[in-house]
Amino acid sequence: MQSDRLMLRGRLLTFTAEPFGAEDTAAYTYIEDGALLIENGMIAGRGEFSELIGDAAGAEIVDHRPHLLMAGFIDTHIHFPQVQVIASWGAQLLDWLNTYTFPEETRFSDDDHAAAMACRFFDLLTNHGTTTAVAYCSVHKGSAEAYFEEAEQRNMRVIGGKVLMDRNAPDGLHDTPQSGYDDTKDLIAKWHGKGRASYAITPRFAITSTPEQMDMARALVREHPDCFVQTHLSENKYEIAYTLELYPEARDYLDVYQRYGLLSDKMLLGHSIHLEPREVAVMAETGSRPVFCPTSNLFLGSGLFNEEKMRQKGIVSAIATDIGAGTSYSMLQTLNEGYKILQLQDQKLHPLRAFHWMTRGNAVALGMEEKIGTLDAGTEADVVVLNSKATDAMALRMERASNLSEELFILQMLGDDRAVEEVYIAGQAQKSGRRPAAIPAF
Ligand code: GUN
Ligand code: ZN
Repeated sequence: MQSDRLMLRGRLLTFTAEPFGAEDTAAYTYIEDGALLIENGMIAGRGEFSELIGDAAGAEIVDHRPHLLMAGFIDTHIHFPQVQVIASWGAQLLDWLNTYTFPEETRFSDDDHAAAMACRFFDLLTNHGTTTAVAYCSVHKGSAEAYFEEAEQRNMRVIGGKVLMDRNAPDGLHDTPQSGYDDTKDLIAKWHGKGRASYAITPRFAITSTPEQMDMARALVREHPDCFVQTHLSENKYEIAYTLELYPEARDYLDVYQRYGLLSDKMLLGHSIHLEPREVAVMAETGSRPVFCPTSNLFLGSGLFNEEKMRQKGIVSAIATDIGAGTSYSMLQTLNEGYKILQLQDQKLHPLRAFHWMTRGNAVALGMEEKIGTLDAGTEADVVVLNSKATDAMALRMERASNLSEELFILQMLGDDRAVEEVYIAGQAQKSGRRPAAIPAF
C-alpha cells in the first residue's frame, strides 16, 4: 500500500443500511462538496471538504468534482476463465457449458495462458469500477495461482477458488476427489488470509461432482470453516432434473448441498432461480446467500430471480455479473437488467437500493462490510469515481434530472465503463496511469 496521504474531493455517496427510497435518509450519506482522506490505503476520514481540508496537511488533493465518489463495486459471482466465452451464441445452460465453456476452460491447464488472462481479467474489472471479485477459477490449480497472484500485485481484495469437478466434463477438465482436495488444501494454505485474499471452496455444481467429491468438499468445509463456499443452484430446469437423477436420494437440488454439510452464511449460491418452498426455508435457516445474476439469466434464458421472496424470508441476496454467461462486466449494466427482471415480476428496485446492493449490500452478503463496500473511516480505500454525463445520451438525459435518485437511475440504465472516471484500489489510482499498464504482449 502507498504510504502517502491523498484527499479526494467530489460529491460523496455512501450507505449505512439498505435504503428503500430517497426519504430513507438515515440509510445513506450524500455530501455535495465532500472529501475522503486516504492514508496507507485506508480511509482515514470523510466529510465536508471545507471541514476535512484542515486535516489534509501534506496530502495530495485530487479534485473529482462534479463527479460522484462511491465505494468500489463488488462482483460476487464471476468466472475468470470465461473471459473468452462471453457472447457465445444460441444455447441454454448445459449446452452452453458443453459447447463453449468447458472447451475454453481446458486451455487454463497452461499456466502462461492463465497468467495472461488473469491480467486482462483484472484490467477489465477495474475499468468497469469493480474493485472486489468473487471468482470461479478453472479446475487447474495453476489458474487459481494466476488469479491470486495477479490480484496480489494489484493489492485487490478478492475471493476465489479452483473449481472441484470430477465428472461430466471433457478430458483435461477433471480433477479427482483426492486431487481436488489436495489442491484446495494447498491453495488455502498459501492464499487464504494472505494480504487481501480469501479462499472459496468451490464445488462447481452437483452435476460435475461425484458423491465422493462432495464428501471431500464436506471435509474441506469442516476443516476450513472460515473459508467461503460457492456453487450453482437451480439455474435451469434441465439442470435441476439431471441433478435429481444423479442424486436420487435428494429431496430437492439444495438438499444435495445440505446433505454434504455445505450450507452456512459463508455459502454463495449462484442463480437460485427455480426454488421449492423447502429450499427457500433452508436458505433462510442456514443463512446461505443466493446470488442474482441478471444478464446471465436473461442471456441463457434461465429464468427470473425472485428477489422479493428472498427478502420476505429474511434472506440476504447478493448480485453479480456471472461472466461469461453474463454479458457485461459492468455492475451498472447488471443492475440495469436486474431492474427489468424485477419489473417482469411487478417488483421494484429503487436506484438508491440498487447502488447500495452492488456496494455495501454485497459486502454484507460476504460478511465484509467492516472492510469494503462503504466510504467509512477505517475501511479499505477502494473507491470509484462516476461521471453521470459520460455519454451524449447520459448528458442529454441529465439535463432533465432534478435529484440524486434520478441521477443514479440514469447511471444504472445508461452507464457502463465509460461512466467510470477513476478507480482507486487501496488508495492507488488505476486509470490515470499511476500503475503501469499491465497489458501483456500477445
Ligand atoms: N453452472 C455450472 N457451471 C456454470 C458456469 O460456468 N456458468 C453458469 N452460468 N452456470 C454454471
Ligand atoms: Zn456461474
